[in-house]
Formats: sequence, C-alpha cells, structure tokens
Amino acid sequence: MAVDILLGLQWGDEGKGKIVDFLAPQYQVVARFQGGPNAGHTLEFDGIKHVLHQVPSGIFRTEIQNIVGNGVVLDPVVFKKELDALVEKFGIDVRANLFISKKAHLILPTHKYLDAAQEQAKGASKIGSTLRGIGPTYQDKIGRQGLRVGDILSPDFEQRYQKLKTLHLQIIKNLAFDCQDLSAQEEAFWKGIEALRSLNLADTEYLLNDALQQGKTILAEGAQGTLLDVDFGSYPFVTSSNTTAMGAFAGLGLAPKHVGEVLGIFKAYCTRVGSGPFPTEQDNDTGAQIRAIGREFGATTGRERRCGWLDLPALKYAVMLNGVTQLYMMKADVLNSFEQIQVCTHYRLPDGSLTEQVPFDMLQTDVTPVYQTLEGWNCDLEAFRQFDQLPEALCQYIAFIEAAVGVPITLVSIGPDRTQTIKR
Ligand code: GDP
Ligand code: IMO
Ligand code: MG
Repeated sequence: MAVDILLGLQWGDEGKGKIVDFLAPQYQVVARFQGGPNAGHTLEFDGIKHVLHQVPSGIFRTEIQNIVGNGVVLDPVVFKKELDALVEKFGIDVRANLFISKKAHLILPTHKYLDAAQEQAKGASKIGSTLRGIGPTYQDKIGRQGLRVGDILSPDFEQRYQKLKTLHLQIIKNLAFDCQDLSAQEEAFWKGIEALRSLNLADTEYLLNDALQQGKTILAEGAQGTLLDVDFGSYPFVTSSNTTAMGAFAGLGLAPKHVGEVLGIFKAYCTRVGSGPFPTEQDNDTGAQIRAIGREFGATTGRERRCGWLDLPALKYAVMLNGVTQLYMMKADVLNSFEQIQVCTHYRLPDGSLTEQVPFDMLQTDVTPVYQTLEGWNCDLEAFRQFDQLPEALCQYIAFIEAAVGVPITLVSIGPDRTQTIKR
C-alpha cells in the first residue's frame, strides 16, 4: 500500500483544498505534513464555502482519519477557532477522526511578534510573510529550542513556555518592535492549549505506518507550493518548510519506499502573494482581469494575489523536483474569455541566450520570459463534464503543456465546487 502525495507546483493557492476534499473518499487517511496557519485551503460543496488553515482537507469526509503530522507548526489559537467552527457549523466530531502529532511544533504568541519584528527589520526587502509565526517557529525547531505539542502534557510546560518567551522578548526588544496586546494573545494561547489537551495527541508516525501495514491508503496534503520551498523556491522569498514531495516523508515519519502517485496541482496561469520574483507576472490589465475573474485574493490574509501567465520552465522544475506522476490543472474556467493565451516556454538571459532552467537567483539574474501564444477556447466550460468532450482549443492547451512537461494532465478543474471537476 502506498502514500499518494498532492502538492502545489507553483507559489501556493493552486486549489489543493478543493482537490484533497474531492479525492478524499479514495483514501482512509489524509495527512498534512508541513506548514501551518499560513495555509488557506478552500473547499466548496453543497452551497458551503469553507477555508481550512491547519485542519486537513479530508475533515468533511467523516469516515476518514485526518492527521496533522510532525512536520506541521501548529498555532493552538487558530486551531481552536477552526475546530470550534467545524463543530458549531457542521457538527463534525473532531475528537473522533482528527489526530495531532505530539512532535508537531507549537507556534507561541511571541513567534508571531517575532515574525512581524523580523519583517519590519527587513524594510523594503521583506518577504511578505503571512505573519502567522511560521518562520520563527521553524527557526526554534531547527535551533533545538522549540516546544512541541506533546510538551503540553508535561508538568513543567508553563516554565518552559516562560523561558522561551523571555528569550523571544529579548530579540523583539533588540529589533525595537512593540508587542501590543501580548497578554490578550497569551490568554487566547492558554485557552488553545487547554482545548488541544482534550484532543487525540499521538505518535502519528506509528498511526500512519500501522495504517499502511493494514493496507490502508494515505493521501499526504501539501501546503504552499514548490516555488515557496525553503531549499528550491525563490529563496529568500519562500516559506520555512520543504513543500516538495521530500517533505512529506520527513513531515509524517514515513519511509520514501512507500511513495505512490505524486499528484502535482497547478493553475492554468500563475499567481503569487507576497514579495519575490515572478517572471511571468502581468502587472497590467491582463493581470487585473485574471485577478477579477479568478477572485485571486488570499484565503488567509485577503491580500491581492499577483497574477500572470503560465511559466513552463518553473512548472518543469517543479515536476522534476517532486517526481510528479500526474498533473491536475486548476481554474481553466478563469481563462474562458481570453481570445489568446500566452505561455512562457523559455527564459532569455541577459547575454541573449535562452534557457529552460530556473536560475540560481531570479532577483540577481534578469530573466525575460519568452512566450508562445495559443488560441483561447472562448466559451463557458460550465456544461462540460467529460474530458474527451472539452473544447478543441482547451485540448490543445492541455496537449501543449503535456508535451512540454512530459507528464499527463489527468484532471481539469472548471470551477470552485467539488462537482466542477473533470477526471480523464
Ligand atoms: P489552496 O491553498 O491550494 O487550497 O488554494 P486556495 O483555496 O487558497 O485558493 C484557490 C481558490 O480558487 C479558492 O477560492 C477555490 O475555491 C478556488 N478554486 C479552486 N478550483 C477552482 C477552479 O477550477 N475554478 C475557479 N474559478 N476557482 C477555483
Ligand atoms: P497555501 O497552502 C500562498 C507565502 C507568503 C509569503 C511567503 C512566506 O494556501 O497554498 P510565511 O507566512 O510562510 O512566512 O510566508 O510565502 N505563503 C503563501 N502563499 N499560499 C500559501 O499557502 C502560502 N503560505 C505562505 O505570502 O510570500
Ligand atoms: Mg491557499
């Protein structure tokens, strides 16, 4: 039995939440392996629209076990809010089918202030972080001083919390940052911790490996996207975790030999929220049109997403790094009204040569995208439900991407709802 991995191939917000929810009935377990409340995964079905931040997107399928893996950084305040909403609005029994790794690291209130302080200190070169405390919490994890979910069960947890908090406050002071409302934040934190204590805290690496032994199938749900990976993304404008397939094994405690399908999800165009290089960005009417039609505003922060054309060198890079076996193309409907669609096939380097590779540093290397123009399909896709009946121009767009990337597109999404999904 294998672990399938679903992950974003661009800068996040590809539609992972929708697809995990769509695929979940094929699996017995859905597990998040990295990231934290910086993620915003949107699900739409039966007239309901709901955004999940830390809870895996299989939670609406009550027969499935949902696991928050050790690679995740967990904010107890956000988590409590999320769980309360799931119970109150949808009557979901989170104590029955949600398990949280004791090895996941905790986001403390001061991690969030540190995030803001570090961004402020960067000035114009700020990352554009979601300010959810992600970077500072992973810093403490790697620095071997973090607090983990399992620590909340130990009698000296509060002492250890105070010790780390004091350390954080010194750094924040050095950065001349003002911690407003810290006591209110701490009050919410302790309520969150109390709620967390009542949940299923587990050594989830055992749960997951036992599940595999029992012949169960697991879907690992990525957060963010490949181009935000801390090693391979547009560093330093990245998040602080490995968003790529490799991260799934470290973030869940599974051996790589269990890998099954790697499902790579991308939009028919590109978006990015926050700072950093974006070669195919259309900071013009075209970008504004994509943003308006695709409702490209952050699911976590509400910020405008920067929009641009599909970037094949970047997509190929992501497919290579993740070993993608199937591609899922999202938001095709957003391009319905475009007469012509541009696709970046190469980058032109400052010396005039062409490359299909993503350069070491996209800020230092001035790459100019080289585009090929394809015909748009110019029609509403709403009525379509069969892959082989899609409009000719869309089939050509799909074939063009497949030929360039060398991996089949086996799913096309034509709207935010669960039902607006076409499998090949
Ligand atoms: P995630 O972070 O990868 O889960 O993606 P987000 O939820 O942040 O952003 C994707 C947005 O696009 C959400 O608002 C979805 O409801 C929406 N969406 C997903 N698939 C489609 C699609 O095929 N067409 C359209 N128009 N919207 C979609
Ligand atoms: P999902 O899972 C899009 C971006 C931020 C910022 C950079 C670092 O919904 O696809 P961080 O808060 O991690 O320190 O921010 O990464 N970012 C995302 N962009 N979707 C996300 O998650 C993101 N999570 C972080 O905007 O540029
Ligand atoms: Mg999102």
